[in-house]
Amino acid sequence: MSTDWISLESQYYAQTVKRQPLVLVKGQGTHVWDVDGKEYLDFTAGWAVNNIGHSHPDMVEAIHKQASTLIQTSNQFYTIPQIQLAKILVDNSCLDRVFFGNSGAEALEGSIKLARKYGKKNRDGAYEVITAFNSFHGRTLTTVSATGQPHYQEPFHPITPGFVHVDYNDVGAIMSATTDSTAAILLEPIQGEGGVNIPSEDYLRKVRAWCDKQGLLLILDEVQTGLGRLGSLFGYQEYDVEPDVITLAKGLGGGVPIGAFLSKNHCMALEPGDHGSTFGGNPLTTAAAYASTSFIIRHDIPGNAKVMGERLIRNLEELKSTNAAISEVRGRGLLVAVEFENNIASDVLSLSNQAGVLLNMVKPNTLRLMPPLTISSDEVDEGVTRLEQALNRL
Ligand SMILES: Cc1ncc(COP(=O)(O)O)c(C=O)c1O
Repeated sequence: MSTDWISLESQYYAQTVKRQPLVLVKGQGTHVWDVDGKEYLDFTAGWAVNNIGHSHPDMVEAIHKQASTLIQTSNQFYTIPQIQLAKILVDNSCLDRVFFGNSGAEALEGSIKLARKYGKKNRDGAYEVITAFNSFHGRTLTTVSATGQPHYQEPFHPITPGFVHVDYNDVGAIMSATTDSTAAILLEPIQGEGGVNIPSEDYLRKVRAWCDKQGLLLILDEVQTGLGRLGSLFGYQEYDVEPDVITLAKGLGGGVPIGAFLSKNHCMALEPGDHGSTFGGNPLTTAAAYASTSFIIRHDIPGNAKVMGERLIRNLEELKSTNAAISEVRGRGLLVAVEFENNIASDVLSLSNQAGVLLNMVKPNTLRLMPPLTISSDEVDEGVTRLEQALNRL
């Protein structure tokens, strides 16, 4: 008799996530397989993580090699993969310095500490960070406080003070909320978890101009948009602005747990003793992340994300034209949402699992599609065909 992994999970694991009833055991490129051997096209990519696909040979080789050489040392010592990864990120961005942690939330925590220290040193003790409603910045207490969705905060009050939330895509709201206490503005280039909300083309440029005028830091949370997802290596390049600080995670490691914040020199306010991490930037994760990042850069994977994203949106628009259940398709690069007239996303998700395409629900009426950036045109077409089959079974 085969093991019932799902009932074992319900017995032993903290019940904090609503999972789909699939036990995945293998991945290759854009495909994953479950414990019964059924194949799926993975349009979730580990929540926008597997940017170069599952078990990419470059990453597998880098992990094998590093695991058999040196896995962990602590940051008391210098290690080569960490420095190589920092260099490739700086060489290919507008930022000057990198700090590695282990997750997106940790990257955000670091950037918020940096903003507070910056405010202390340069803005007379200013400490507030303005963020947007519907944003998502993580699950630690401080990043939950930064996140502009009250339902993530309510069970955990009192939350970390110092965050002011304003409407996304509204520069005037940021201007009105700015006071002598404001140190930084923190925004996602496109809001991912909040529903794939795309700002107007000039929004970030206007926010940048306001930050320059007021001496505020512009922090862009690129945990989801970074490393090619929107069609450029970094989301800020799509909108033609230079942030002072960015946060990365997800696609940076291509599957290994790593996060980072990058800052320009002029605002790297953190000094020795201010911040640290036992595992952050260890040789194993940075060697894997370096393999993934250098592959993304060498093979213009953001370019593929742009072309495949346009194809995906075109296919989905076609599907919308013949399917009244879909009310909107929106996205940029390979961060795409399908919104329905009614709250049927959960049903569509289950039927899509059966049809063999894995999707992600961000709202009761909205699904998010974020496949690996190495996806082929045939896989894009097949994924949409499987979604169509699911919709036909509604
Ligand atoms: C924009 C953004 N910031 C931060 C996070 C938190 O990242 P992690 O789950 O790695 O802590 C996420 C996760 O979805 C995210 O999308």
